[in-house]
Amino acid sequence: MQQGYVAVLWVLAVLVVETTALGECELAHLLQHKLQYEMHLQYMKHYFPIGYTVQVQYKEVLRPSNITCLRNRTVSEMALQYLWLHVSSQAVLRIHEVLPEKHPSWKYTQELCQLFDALGKEYSKYWQTDVEVVVADLVKLIHSAGMESRRKAVHPKALLDNCLKVMRMLYRAPCWWEST
Ligand SMILES: *[C@@H]1O[C@H](CO)[C@@H](O)[C@H](O)[C@H]1NC(C)=O
Ligand SMILES: *[C@@H]1O[C@H](CO)[C@@H](O)[C@H](O)[C@H]1NC(C)=O
Repeated sequence: MQQGYVAVLWVLAVLVVETTALGECELAHLLQHKLQYEMHLQYMKHYFPIGYTVQVQYKEVLRPSNITCLRNRTVSEMALQYLWLHVSSQAVLRIHEVLPEKHPSWKYTQELCQLFDALGKEYSKYWQTDVEVVVADLVKLIHSAGMESRRKAVHPKALLDNCLKVMRMLYRAPCWWEST
């Protein structure tokens, strides 16, 4: 990965995160950089007590297998990105919410939340009617926290592992990422 390019993009992102002048691919690129394995291993595992878990809804776990399955049901790529975005930002928010401000991962998760927000603005031009019913229903479920009582304990790192893997599946082709 071109570190210099990423650094420049990062500075740009910090400057324009409010106005969202960056496109989907630039934002996705920044997110991918921030989510890279070594970084999320440190922030989401090493800085947490051994075996630490957060409670999430079943629908908040989005794995590559879910995507394969939804693609097979001819769900559009845009709808899949939309779903990934909602699931991932919710997951990061759940982790961020349990951290005190002095925790070493607080700022990391806050920056991830800001990037997801900025990317979310790019998708706000799509309405729920633009996405397939199956995805619209999933997104509704994700935001109706408490409606579904069945919860699952997940390691913070596992949430970000899935987030990164799915992201690579969804953005590699449209953003011309080299395969990793
Ligand atoms: C992904 O699949 C698992 C089961 O393999 C399921 O529990 C989960 O709800 C699915 N996630 C979404 C967002 O559909
Ligand atoms: C895709 O869907 C068809 C039927 O709709 C099914 O037979 C096939 O096994 C599915 N493939 C995968 C990879 O899920």
